[in-house]
Amino acid sequence: MRKPLIVGNWKMYKTITEAEDYVAQIKDRLPAKQVAEVELAVPTLFLQSLARLTAASPLKIVAENCFYQDEGAFTGETSPLALRELGIKHVILGHSERRRLFFESDQVVNQKVHAALSAGLCPILCVDETMKRLAEHGQVAWVVNQVITGLAGVSEDQLAHIVIAYEPSWAIGTGKAAASPVEANEGCYLIRQTVACLYGEAAANRVRILYGGSVNQANLPQLIGRPDIDGVLIGRASLDPATFLTMVDQVVAASGGEASA
Ligand code: 13P
Repeated sequence: MRKPLIVGNWKMYKTITEAEDYVAQIKDRLPAKQVAEVELAVPTLFLQSLARLTAASPLKIVAENCFYQDEGAFTGETSPLALRELGIKHVILGHSERRRLFFESDQVVNQKVHAALSAGLCPILCVDETMKRLAEHGQVAWVVNQVITGLAGVSEDQLAHIVIAYEPSWAIGTGKAAASPVEANEGCYLIRQTVACLYGEAAANRVRILYGGSVNQANLPQLIGRPDIDGVLIGRASLDPATFLTMVDQVVAASGGEASA
């Protein structure tokens, strides 16, 4: 059985003081790691301090991005090797905001996937889909293409270190236009089928696939109950610690584990 994974994505919200205060509030109130994994993706600036604060906690701190080279003249970028040295394990790659606002192509995302894997990191590879593309080309072509390109050159062994997230841009940040549980599961199912074509059924059944896009307390129980959704990537609703803890409890309860303290 695939272990549920809950990732809060803070994007560019919070100051370091707010971040440390939030983490102090939740770090000892999470389920044991064998029940579910709970992670927070935070701005690069906070990684070192929050990784220290959570060293003995089941809460894991995640990077929101990294570059595709380990070092060099790349002003403003973050080295995957440096992340690894901090003890960071997961890194979000190919988020739709990176693709849209920073022009990251499928090829760049694929380069980042390889750099992260080589540095010993585990990518959370985001797969996007916009309403326009959905209408013009259909969901299938777009999502399948991003999975194929994102995973190009990745071996089956390396796939074991990758989580994939289905994050349709039309459902992100609106607070209300979440993909319905059926649509969300369809996207995740499509990704799993694509992985099955590339790596076989067994590998596809092992890979964890998350849904992200306006996930909140109201829609989470229905989303997490779907067969191909192994967890969630939560933006806005992860910014409040009490709400985030409630959502962690919802996931744990849906998967038959114990709630947080
Ligand atoms: P929202 O939950 O705010 O829609 O953001 C989703 C997201 O982008 C998570 O990575």
